[in-house]
Amino acid sequence: MKNIILTGDRPTGRLHVGHYVGSLKERVSLQNSGEYDEVYIMVADAQALTDNADNPEKVRQNVMQVALDYLSCGIDPTKSNIFIQSMIPELAELTVYYMNLVTVSRVQRNPTVKAEIKQKNFETSLPLGFFCYPVSQASDITAFKATTVPAGEDQMPMIEQCCEIVRKFNEVYGETLVEPKIVLPTNKSCLRLPGIDGKAKMSKSLGNCIYLSDTEEDTKKKVMSMFTDPTHLRREDPGHVEGNPVFTYLDAFCKDEYFAEYLPDYKNLDELKAHYQRGGLGDMVVKKFLNNVIQTELRPIRERRNDWEKRLPDVYEILKQGTAKARETAAQTLSEVKHAMRIDYFTDDNLLK
Ligand code: TRP
Repeated sequence: MKNIILTGDRPTGRLHVGHYVGSLKERVSLQNSGEYDEVYIMVADAQALTDNADNPEKVRQNVMQVALDYLSCGIDPTKSNIFIQSMIPELAELTVYYMNLVTVSRVQRNPTVKAEIKQKNFETSLPLGFFCYPVSQASDITAFKATTVPAGEDQMPMIEQCCEIVRKFNEVYGETLVEPKIVLPTNKSCLRLPGIDGKAKMSKSLGNCIYLSDTEEDTKKKVMSMFTDPTHLRREDPGHVEGNPVFTYLDAFCKDEYFAEYLPDYKNLDELKAHYQRGGLGDMVVKKFLNNVIQTELRPIRERRNDWEKRLPDVYEILKQGTAKARETAAQTLSEVKHAMRIDYFTDDNLLK
């Protein structure tokens, strides 16, 4: 069996460092591992429209931004197919058939859907399309017979739901679809990077993100304004590293070698944490160090983005070609699905059989 990657993001905004450590970084290393026969990275515009029906222009604008973010992070168009979801109508068609295999109450129990409904205050105005997006996401994944989905932790319930659809389909219509596995970052602090305000999640609506496309100065301003430990008032006070986003970011981004370069008084993060906890270490020192670490990590991404931004017609071509390739694959799976269901009526006069 082939090893195939499919994953994607909703283009509702530019991608931020939470996306980077939570999944993008992993995707790039999987892409470069040589272990995958095919890699598909999807700009999920149709999914973005499920809660942005009144603002298609926002989604449209961000299609290109997300593609630029992918390329800047090191998604390589010679190894990966970057494509646009809505340009593959086969995905919508698969969704129509999969919806019959899922109950309303099952989607209602999906923890990610539940959390989003709450967060978006959808109690009485939940769009049906939004409610159904876990099913459409199963189409995204199965259309490519993906074995591996590198995604954020919040996508776990989606993959579970997808596997249930695969099992149900194969049981009812015969072995056709492939169950995927999610790949999460191994570093636990990368699973859910808090916002710079210390809130549980980086989110555009909370205005607490560091974007991959932020300038060096903007990034620095954001790092220097980060929420830390509110009980650490004076330098001498003992501080807390748990729940302190400055240390969570260091857990996510820091390598030992950065100490030699930027903060040689300490050998590693454990030493720095111990000093902070004991007292006598000011927030400014830690933030300045974090800024150096983050800038070093983001600089190559920023430089690649600057290059790609000068070559937008090339980005357009990459999307076009990636989409054409993705469409071929999805069309092949759809025909297998219809064959399994025996609704491929006009193939080989099947309706007469
Ligand atoms: N739900 C994902 C997000 O919120 C986007 C997405 C759509 C996706 N289809 C997918 C992710 C398939 C992984 C696999 O960003």
